[in-house]
Amino acid sequence: MKIMEPNAVHDFYGGVITGTAVKTGVKRLRDMIGAYKEAGEAEDLDRVMYEVYSFENGDPAQAGNLNWGLTVMYPELVGGECNFTRGHVHADQSCAEIYFGLDGQGLLLFMDQDGGTWAEKVRRGSLHYIDGRWAHRLVNTGDGVLKVGACWPVTAGHDYQWVEDHPFPVRVFKKNGEIICI
Ligand code: PA5
Ligand code: NI
Repeated sequence: MKIMEPNAVHDFYGGVITGTAVKTGVKRLRDMIGAYKEAGEAEDLDRVMYEVYSFENGDPAQAGNLNWGLTVMYPELVGGECNFTRGHVHADQSCAEIYFGLDGQGLLLFMDQDGGTWAEKVRRGSLHYIDGRWAHRLVNTGDGVLKVGACWPVTAGHDYQWVEDHPFPVRVFKKNGEIICI
């Protein structure tokens, strides 16, 4: 039997994926500032809020193929509000997704099509099922970096407009070390 090296090198805990089909995205505060409730005037817009690494394997049009990736979120606060991802539903809402906590402390916010909102705690070793109809957003509530892995069908797509049209009704703040959901 031939034993091969993996076709990508995974260092989830180090927050790195390398390989032949890696795409990375970086969100800085300037990309997200409008989404925060109380951004001050003196904010450093260059601050990196989160990075997304993804490994896109095979034909992106072939239903059944899977992507996987990693989100790395920094412990940034903006006007006391915890760093959060933009959030989305899947363009093909029949496509579900799995998130898995790798490091740090966070919340995974959900909102269903009727506006029902809930959250799950994210920590190293946690697993989260995401129905494709549920809007999902990660929040870093910890004092360190939050790292979350994900696996989703290549045909899922990201619908950000839905979340802009139906904003999450809950915001997560950290005041004197305490997490407050408002
Ligand atoms: O596929 C996913 O749901 C994740 O990889 C997210 O894209 C990632 O966490 C970043 O969030 P968003 O795409 O909402 O900015
Ligand atoms: Ni998703």
